Amino acid sequence: MEKRILVTRQFPKAGLALLENENFHLTQWEKARPMTSFELMDQAMNHHALFCTLTDRIDQGFLDHCRHLEIISQFAVGYDNIDIHTATRLGIPVGFTPDAMSEATADIAFGLMIAVARKLFFLHKTIINGQWGFFNPTGNLGCELKHKTLGIFGLGRIGVKMAQRCKSAYGMEILYHNRTRNKVAEKLLDASYVDFNTLLSQSDVLSVHCALTPETKELFNRAVFKKMKPSAIFINTARGPIHQEQDLILAIKAGEIWGTGLDVTNPEPMQPDNPLLFMENACVLPHVGSGTLEARDQMSILAAMNIIEFYKNGRVPHIVNPEVLKP
Ligand code: GLV
Repeated sequence: MEKRILVTRQFPKAGLALLENENFHLTQWEKARPMTSFELMDQAMNHHALFCTLTDRIDQGFLDHCRHLEIISQFAVGYDNIDIHTATRLGIPVGFTPDAMSEATADIAFGLMIAVARKLFFLHKTIINGQWGFFNPTGNLGCELKHKTLGIFGLGRIGVKMAQRCKSAYGMEILYHNRTRNKVAEKLLDASYVDFNTLLSQSDVLSVHCALTPETKELFNRAVFKKMKPSAIFINTARGPIHQEQDLILAIKAGEIWGTGLDVTNPEPMQPDNPLLFMENACVLPHVGSGTLEARDQMSILAAMNIIEFYKNGRVPHIVNPEVLKP
């Protein structure tokens, strides 16, 4: 196929090889950094399709300028970097890669939960700082997770995997809050749907797995943290802007919650002097939820298949805006 695809980062070869086998012409951005908005616009002008990811800003200005694009294929489950409304208005299908990273991301949420409960990152630093003294019967105490209550905000593909881990490992009770009820997951997990305030007041661990939307932007602010248990752990592996980071810092300092585990920060990247990096009960990772060989290969394959199927059969297997495809 003589279609030219702009590949905006160095993605795993698994998917790119599929595209090459179908004779697509790939232009790959070779630098380690993402393109600037100008570079992206400039490069996209003479391509038919985009193979892109969450570091690419695909906003209204870009889309209006690049309305010739036939498909945008996003290598990620989240697509808050793309103005979906404008893409849909212009009739451009947007593909994405759901489920490929659900296990990997749930592992990170689960790992952060344990790391915060037992202050793992902080204790690791004490050794580096030469502070490993004597066994201390009353020092460095964490908390246990057995039979605690897990609150999931956004019980979708990743939230379900996190809940399954917490239920099997610790027999945790599962509460959740969603825009719409997830009856299948309720049955699978014996999970209870609760209103937002109940989720806040009852959860020992509150784990965020929703999309970033105008409704969820900085939803977790000081007023919300104040409604949580002083012993609660707040986990965010979804998108940084869902929490207000200064408020989170203040809430932990004031003892309004116990601590936090973050794989996403607000803003990203987090600066090296951020107070969260020095707190006992905070563990932060640099947005690596989907960072396994398996997940990234699968994401690359799904993103490639969205393009291949679109050009071969007029369908996009994983599409954000199905309304743009003619029936
Ligand atoms: C990663 O953050 C993703 O959305 O896939």
